[in-house]
Amino acid sequence: MSIFRKTVVLVLTMGPGLAGAVAEAADDPIVTRQAIMASANAAAALGGGMMKGEVAYSPVAGKSVIATLRAASLSYGSFFPEGSDQGNTWAKPAIWEDPDGFAAKLTAFQAATAKANAASGKEGPADLEAFKAAVGPVFGICKSCHETYRKN
Ligand code: HEC
Repeated sequence: MSIFRKTVVLVLTMGPGLAGAVAEAADDPIVTRQAIMASANAAAALGGGMMKGEVAYSPVAGKSVIATLRAASLSYGSFFPEGSDQGNTWAKPAIWEDPDGFAAKLTAFQAATAKANAASGKEGPADLEAFKAAVGPVFGICKSCHETYRKN
């Protein structure tokens, strides 16, 4: 069964009240982009934990971190339609006032994750040093974008 059909069945079995709430969340670009960032943040926390030696490194975990960050970099920019500067969001108006500048940050994010992905190979970076070299540049871009385009 496809994911789409599973979702439909799930929504149908939940009754009208809940189904409405689910559809609303799925349609809300602010909720979606915050979920993408929360996922990137969880991946960064795992990556950071391995870098600090708090979590044992394994190639499969390294691969998971990099794949999550790559998906975030490729999808994130699609959830900033006009008007979504209003509401429960920390996105700065600068995103819509300077779309080229924001696009440049997204491009840098994508380029860094593409490089990390290429370096991680099929099995993930072989050791912690290789993981650090691959993912380090991605982390720098998080801060750089937030400084200009996020309110806190
Ligand atoms: C291209 C710009 C950009 C990049 C790159 C970026 N962020 Fe964000 N981030 C934002 C913006 C804008 C918001 C605010 C979104 C909103 O509230 O609508 C945000 C929000 C967040 C949040 C809060 C999510 C929530 O639940 O409200 C976290 C955590 C976060 N980012 C972590 C990261 C991490 C970790 C990285 C790097 C792996 C990263 N971000 C890269 C722009 C960026």
